[in-house]
Amino acid sequence: MKVLASAPAKIILFGEHSVVYGKPAIAAAIDLRTYVWASFNEKRAIKIEAKDIKVPGLTVSFSENEIYFESDYGKAAEVLSYVKQAIEIVRDEADKNGKGITVSITSQIPVGAGLGSSAAVAVATIGAVSKLFGLELTPEEVAKLGHKVELLVQGASSGIDPTVSAVGGFLYYQKGSFEELPVVELPMVVGYTGTSGSTKELVAKVRRNLNDMPDVMQPIIDSMGKVVERAKEIILANYDSRIKFELLGKLMNINHGLLDAIGVSTKGLSDLVYASREAGAIGAKITGAGGGGCMYALAPGKQSEVATAIRIVGGMPMITKISREGVRIE
Ligand code: MEV
Repeated sequence: MKVLASAPAKIILFGEHSVVYGKPAIAAAIDLRTYVWASFNEKRAIKIEAKDIKVPGLTVSFSENEIYFESDYGKAAEVLSYVKQAIEIVRDEADKNGKGITVSITSQIPVGAGLGSSAAVAVATIGAVSKLFGLELTPEEVAKLGHKVELLVQGASSGIDPTVSAVGGFLYYQKGSFEELPVVELPMVVGYTGTSGSTKELVAKVRRNLNDMPDVMQPIIDSMGKVVERAKEIILANYDSRIKFELLGKLMNINHGLLDAIGVSTKGLSDLVYASREAGAIGAKITGAGGGGCMYALAPGKQSEVATAIRIVGGMPMITKISREGVRIE
């Protein structure tokens, strides 16, 4: 028996990093997905086949009971450790510790790009393996297990990435709880720098800065929380879409400046942000942990101009849509 599950990538529209300190954030699932097949194996081993994970040069082999990374290709090893934890957590939940599980992964989501590739692979693995064991988990239960996986692998996590990936749609999230927002079709362009950042390291860097200078850093984190509250009001208000986009764009630009101030932007990200604004985007900001990865621009009527501008400064544009569907058994 083989079970196939999938889960989407996400973008954080507002509130990354400050969400780790209990502030709210707004995020959406997008239409790139990771697919995971799960089956039992006779060897009582965890086997992970991940030929399609978009990290060049990865080779992974297996000992009897353990995954063994032939070489430590940083990012890929990090992704696979989410998969391993996800399998182990579901096995514990199902009380089936000796069972051998093989998972096979294929993904449309670039790794380390700030689009939640690790959360999506963890959520899809939890979906597939739990179904294999006959557990019927709700998306919320999958999200909780996904958060556990992130805490084990990363040390710190707000839980927003696995929650959006498991539940789908457009969410307002704070301290483990979420509220579904009406899906606003945002004319956006995601720009990938082609470089990646480690969420674990960036979260640790912000924490260090906060510990070193709480009087300077805490007001920035507080402001990020206020940006999110204003964004939520605007999303829920009865404005026409032109006014809505203009106000949201302004908040995106403020949020980007605050993320730069806490130390998670890079020249590559800022180049894409400024090129997008110059090409007509109303707003542009980092999405996700930063340190490389992706930004997104809000560009009503200007999506192709912004995509071209991103390409000219060396980025990779992606025109994506919000996905209403979270984790799914295929
Ligand atoms: C990463 O996508 C979002 C961060 O806020 C980390 C987290 O919330 O766990 C940087």
